[in-house]
Amino acid sequence: MYILGIETSCDETGAAVVEDGKRIISNVVASQVHVHAEYGGVVPELASRNHILTITGVIEQSLEEAGCTLDDISGVAVTHGPGLVGALLIGLSVAKSIAFVKGVPLIPVHHVNAHVYSSFLGGTEPEFPFLALVVSGGHTSIIDYSGRHDYRLLGRTRDDAAGEAFDKVAKLLGLSYPGGPAIEKEAAGGDESAIAFPRPMTETKGLDFSFSGLKTAVLYHVRDLEAKGIRVDDARRADIAASFQRAVVDTLIIKTRRALKATGRKVAVLAGGVAANSLLREQFLQGLGLEESSLHVPSRDLCVDNGAMVASAGYFALQDGRVATLSLGADPNLPLTPDLPDQSAFPQNGW
Ligand code: KG4
Ligand code: ZN
Repeated sequence: MYILGIETSCDETGAAVVEDGKRIISNVVASQVHVHAEYGGVVPELASRNHILTITGVIEQSLEEAGCTLDDISGVAVTHGPGLVGALLIGLSVAKSIAFVKGVPLIPVHHVNAHVYSSFLGGTEPEFPFLALVVSGGHTSIIDYSGRHDYRLLGRTRDDAAGEAFDKVAKLLGLSYPGGPAIEKEAAGGDESAIAFPRPMTETKGLDFSFSGLKTAVLYHVRDLEAKGIRVDDARRADIAASFQRAVVDTLIIKTRRALKATGRKVAVLAGGVAANSLLREQFLQGLGLEESSLHVPSRDLCVDNGAMVASAGYFALQDGRVATLSLGADPNLPLTPDLPDQSAFPQNGW
């Protein structure tokens, strides 16, 4: 069964055809990075306008590459939140039109849930129950999946997402947008133990994150150097990037280990744009104390926003009859689960 997946929640216009939720037939992503780069971050109005310009072509290309037409599609899955409301509305309007004209189901997909389903597209899928760490520009979440639709948000960022911290620190170091890949490249030539940046909220109970303070610690470090008349040259910039990257990765791994210990889960999934980071991928595979075969890390191209992950999540939702009517709205703050558990249920346990 072919599902068309449509993704427009931020600055990537994505459309993909996926068979039975697992096999990618086509996956087309039009990135707007060049549009937003000169502003150092995503400009919502520009994102919406560019989605309008590219969405039809991206969908047409995804069908062409899949060698099929809309008549071969059994359902249209679309991200309806969370994200930028204007951007979400473009994908949603197009998805509704296709569903209406072709008489196929409209399948609503939560963006963070879609990221988790990117790990179902690599050949070996994670077995339920599992724990997912989703790290992107808008989210840093630890989610416990007991089953396909039985999941619970255990912890999330209280301020900046990990990717957002990468983007902001890159900006203050004068690096290009998006900051994640730029910091990673810069960090390659630096010493990760040069500066002792904090590992936020690892000394207190719970699985929540807070990356805003870490970003401020980098800012103060740079200001301190400047106040002492020390120039942030290439070598210093590389040390700052490497030490910052290490602090983010350590924090993510510490909290994931804590969550695994508290839940007893033996399978873990890494997803989201920041999951493209080499150090995080390596530490996720080596630092959680689990068998490598129980760890699922999608290929880098599936970590960033794309339509295939939406189609995969949509296929499984359709199997369980989770479809929407044409009155489906975009929800910029769509919650993953209604509430968070008491954070004192997650003691440090040495981590
Ligand atoms: O999942 P995504 O494409 O969009 C959102 O849902 O937010 O994630 C984008 C985020 C950006 O903040 C970007 O800087 C970060 O992922 N990112 C990375 C890397 N590649 C992308 N962060 C760290 N290292 C990378 N290699
Ligand atoms: Zn995303």
